[in-house]
Amino acid sequence: MRGRLVVLISGTGTNMEALVDACHKDEVPGDVVAVLADRDCLGLTLAKHRGIANDMLAPGKFKTREEWSEALRDKVLSFRPDLVVSAGFMRILSPVFVDAFEDKLLNIHPSLLPDFPGAHAVKDALDAGAAETGTTIHFIDHLVDHGPIVLQARVPIEADDDEASLHERIKEQEHRLLPEACRMFLTGEIKATS
Ligand code: GRF
Repeated sequence: MRGRLVVLISGTGTNMEALVDACHKDEVPGDVVAVLADRDCLGLTLAKHRGIANDMLAPGKFKTREEWSEALRDKVLSFRPDLVVSAGFMRILSPVFVDAFEDKLLNIHPSLLPDFPGAHAVKDALDAGAAETGTTIHFIDHLVDHGPIVLQARVPIEADDDEASLHERIKEQEHRLLPEACRMFLTGEIKATS
């Protein structure tokens, strides 16, 4: 049976697209059944063009963050996911959401965690003068950019890199790593507790 994947995004959605393509090529034994965003973004338009169910739940439309978290949880649950992937979703997921998908929530973060957590990981690595950075796929727990690590890839920082060029090379690795992590999860090779 193929796994049902729900992807959360906020931006360009290139990781979401890489995952959709890998599913189509059967490199991942699953299908992206829904793409959900917290804002209008390019990734949402791409999902629409690909005929994937999609929706936007903007926190500003809810009275409290808790209400938004519950609505997002219920929306994701309505797609009966086997795996939920946060792929460039620029919001901190609250316990009410995380608890509903315990052990089946993956995040992708553009650094070699535990180095450079937070929303500006690529710039932070550059500013720190690091020789290399990379990307991390990890299970989500109750802390930000934290939880059991599934896969990491290293990316050297070149002397003439700026944030955009470095992020581009990091994404090349992410597009390979994210489908692989999803495949490992759906085939039972990895679990959040392993
Ligand atoms: C990725 O670099 C991911 O690691 C980070 O946000 C970026 C999303 O890019 N959390 P995209 O929307 O998949 O192109």
